Amino acid sequence: MTTLSLSSADAATLSTDVLVVATAPAGGRRKGAVLVGPAASLKAAPKRRLEESLAALGATGKAGDLVRVPGTGIAAAPLVLAVGLGQGPWSDEALRRAAGSAARALTGTRRALLALPTDSPAALEAVAQGALLGAYEFRTYRVDSKSSHKAPLDRVSLQVADAKDAASLAAVARAKAVSGAVNLARDLVNTPAGDLVPSDLAAAAIAAAAGLPIEVEVLDEAALTAGGYGGILGVGRGSANPPRLVRLAYRPEGASSHVAFVGKGITFDTGGISIKPSLSMHEMKSDMGGAAAALGAIVASARLGLDVAVTSYLCIAENMPSGSATKPGDVLHTYGGTTIEVLDTDAEGRLVLADGLARAQEDKPDVLIDIATLTGAAVIALGARTFGIMANDDGLRTQIHDAAGRVGEASWPMPQPEELRSRLDSHVADIANIPLTGRREGGMLSASIFLREFVKPGQKWAHLDIAGPAYNAHAAHDYTPRGGTGAAVRTLVQVAADLASGS
Ligand code: BES
Ligand code: MN
Ligand code: ZN
Repeated sequence: MTTLSLSSADAATLSTDVLVVATAPAGGRRKGAVLVGPAASLKAAPKRRLEESLAALGATGKAGDLVRVPGTGIAAAPLVLAVGLGQGPWSDEALRRAAGSAARALTGTRRALLALPTDSPAALEAVAQGALLGAYEFRTYRVDSKSSHKAPLDRVSLQVADAKDAASLAAVARAKAVSGAVNLARDLVNTPAGDLVPSDLAAAAIAAAAGLPIEVEVLDEAALTAGGYGGILGVGRGSANPPRLVRLAYRPEGASSHVAFVGKGITFDTGGISIKPSLSMHEMKSDMGGAAAALGAIVASARLGLDVAVTSYLCIAENMPSGSATKPGDVLHTYGGTTIEVLDTDAEGRLVLADGLARAQEDKPDVLIDIATLTGAAVIALGARTFGIMANDDGLRTQIHDAAGRVGEASWPMPQPEELRSRLDSHVADIANIPLTGRREGGMLSASIFLREFVKPGQKWAHLDIAGPAYNAHAAHDYTPRGGTGAAVRTLVQVAADLASGS
């Protein structure tokens, strides 16, 4: 990952490859951009020169505006990059996005100094996070094309008044912990399913937890069979690569609260016998984005030393059609005992989550949250950047929505209409995995009604459908790359942090 540090040296004289300055719309009748943040206090001559260049090049100062100016006569750096923040006052997210856009634009650059307005530790944390997230590139598989896909920004310094200030250093440490976890989730989502079969994802979880106070337990196929995990086994049985259930536990001494995350970890979703059309099927390597988020969240929580117990379950299987695959009409016996008639093998996420939710409740968490790329219906309803939140507790739903907002993740509360439950009544088993009346209307909601069946009375529970935001099939924007995004990691860490602080 890009390395990041603080600098209180003079931005104009510091030796670096690119000096990044911030702009905002001039406002009023004036057109163009004005310099804001540290660059606003450049010496008169270099400042005028920079402002004239920006005006000549049509800088607007609007959010996402990027203008490059030669550094000659302005700073020691050979290049100045002006990034627009939009109209102030700037939210943390506006700063995070600007830093991200700048870092992304600086691919191929070795060193940069970011001089953005960071008037509070929270603003500094947002800028640091934006830079570390925006600089992300997935280049593992580039060989011949490596030279045309330049390396991400190697070293970034953030311009601050006092580089030794304890609150600033703590903000940077938090940004590093969380961004590292988001980028870990992105790497896992981006890794081709051929190189990330269930045992690989389990190994990646062990590797990510190494050196941290996290206990890891992996149930392999034999252990899953012995334990009666019929949901995970039922989804994985068509594959040559057998399933896994990973349990990670972070138990700081004296923590008074406990949150459990249960992630959908389908390393590839072909749909199984109810096979998907081939168009865009390759994107289903992202169907383990929920498990990646649950992993990233516990890793960041441990690294931050949050005063809250966290358990993450990764429900991992590869959903393949084959002679041994589960067939429509088959009945699975889940871990908790409930039987499921599988009417559609492509509604597999809820089958592995049924086991995971039942198992997770044995740990007696105060709050139980599952995270899953569960339904195409979520993408239809909310678009590709917003995740849906369904919960059996109004307070928890609001708490998650609020936490997501504070860390800059888009989410929206969704209902669980009661009439959807009876449509899941199976003619042969306890419940069917899709509505008998057809699978489309309210697809995201009916999936959550199905999951609710595996939550015990009194257990506070929420379900996050991240099918839209987990994978960005479009161009990169702000600090979000193409492909894996690490969606929900920041929200989950914030929820854990809020529980730790008792809010
Ligand atoms: N993994 C998919 C959902 C998905 C679709 C995620 C598009 C990301 C982008 C899930 O397993 C699935 O196939 N869901 C079905 C459910 C249906 C059979 C009830 C769907 O959404 O079509
Ligand atoms: Mn599916
Ligand atoms: Zn799926």
